[in-house]
Amino acid sequence: METDVIVIGGGAAGLMCALTAGRRGRRVHVVEHANRCGKKILMSGGGRCNFTNTGTTPANFLSANPHFCKSALARYRPEHFIAMVDAHGIAWHEKELGQLFCDESSKQIVAMLLEECARAGVVVQVSCAVESVEAMAGGGYRVRTSQGPLTAPSLVVATGGLSIPSMGATGFGYELARQFGHEVLPTRAGLVPLTLSGKHQEHYAELAGVSFPVSARCGKARFDNALLVTHRGLSGPSILQISSYWEPGRELRLDLLPDRDAEAWLLERQSAKPAAELKTVLGEAFPQRFAQRLCEVWFANKPMRQYTHRELPDIARKLADWPIVASGTEGYRTAEVTLGGVDTRGVSSTTMESMRAPGLYFVGEVLDVTGWLGGYNFQWAWASGHAAGQSA
Ligand code: FDA
Repeated sequence: METDVIVIGGGAAGLMCALTAGRRGRRVHVVEHANRCGKKILMSGGGRCNFTNTGTTPANFLSANPHFCKSALARYRPEHFIAMVDAHGIAWHEKELGQLFCDESSKQIVAMLLEECARAGVVVQVSCAVESVEAMAGGGYRVRTSQGPLTAPSLVVATGGLSIPSMGATGFGYELARQFGHEVLPTRAGLVPLTLSGKHQEHYAELAGVSFPVSARCGKARFDNALLVTHRGLSGPSILQISSYWEPGRELRLDLLPDRDAEAWLLERQSAKPAAELKTVLGEAFPQRFAQRLCEVWFANKPMRQYTHRELPDIARKLADWPIVASGTEGYRTAEVTLGGVDTRGVSSTTMESMRAPGLYFVGEVLDVTGWLGGYNFQWAWASGHAAGQSA
């Protein structure tokens, strides 16, 4: 069947691209191999979809080409998506740091996108596997699918990243990119819990579930948010954020007391409570189990008055510059995003069109643009999908 635009992948970016192109009067076919569209949207934000972040700027994204995301983000902003959400009567709230969530369910976001696609005349084919893609001699693309062939002058690759393979993630978009002469930058899991092993894991054993605020640092990146000890390592928003910057061999450090001057505080507690033991004092700042473990593994526990004026500053320094020796990450099985992907240097930043193959577009996570935790990845999916939808 002949159409104007074929979109491979009915996720966040693919649906946004399809509805945008459809509104322009283009005949659009979405080919989704899973049995329903938007599975990642459904599972996102704990079932409530953190659908955007009102503070989105290009600085919230990682990419080998940091300027690439600017144009699309500037032209399709959080308020544009919020307007569509409001027009559909979907109630939302701000959780923290500009993160907007549905009051009720992520299902509402998928329903909204599908309704907008239907209004724009977009044909959505689910459970439809792509068998092959080829460029046609006179221009355009032929896509063979399990539901028959499709041809169109424009082909949009919106197949997402590799995270959560059980939800339909594949490396198909990267293969297609290579087929048409694009570079694919090495991929790895991002926004993912870190694992610990050996004695590093033993030190945190039995602390699973303990959570407290930290400042996590890796190179120039720094995130102030909660840390959560898990059975296999560390998680929580601060760790998920910093995981996108960490790679084996890179130094990762935590400030365990980000909101206070640790040395001044310990010296103050020493003069106010000289008979109190260190673990009791640390228990004022940390969950009891962690305070206790600090004094079992890392610090000698004794009454505050017995610490010399060299020992307390030493403890304070350690608390403010706490090394984490991660053995790896939990990988794509639990990662929220995939770092790396189609090299943006071969793609137009205004239209998302390939510079190698006219009429071929890449949108969303398949590109080497990865957002922080907090609604930025969806904002990139909407913005890049919209940019391509205006051109395809
Ligand atoms: P997406 O993965 O959404 O869609 C790709 C689509 O292509 C899928 O439907 C897939 O089945 C389909 N596909 C793949 N290969 C195919 C093939 N060969 N043929 C046909 N179809 C194919 N972000 C955020 O901003 N806020 C949040 O709250 C969350 N929460 C969150 C939770 C969890 C658990 C995960 C895993 C991820 C998030 N994210 C998030 C990240 C966010 O989900 C992600 O960045 C976007 O969904 C990316 O949108 P895309 O459209 O690029 O890919």
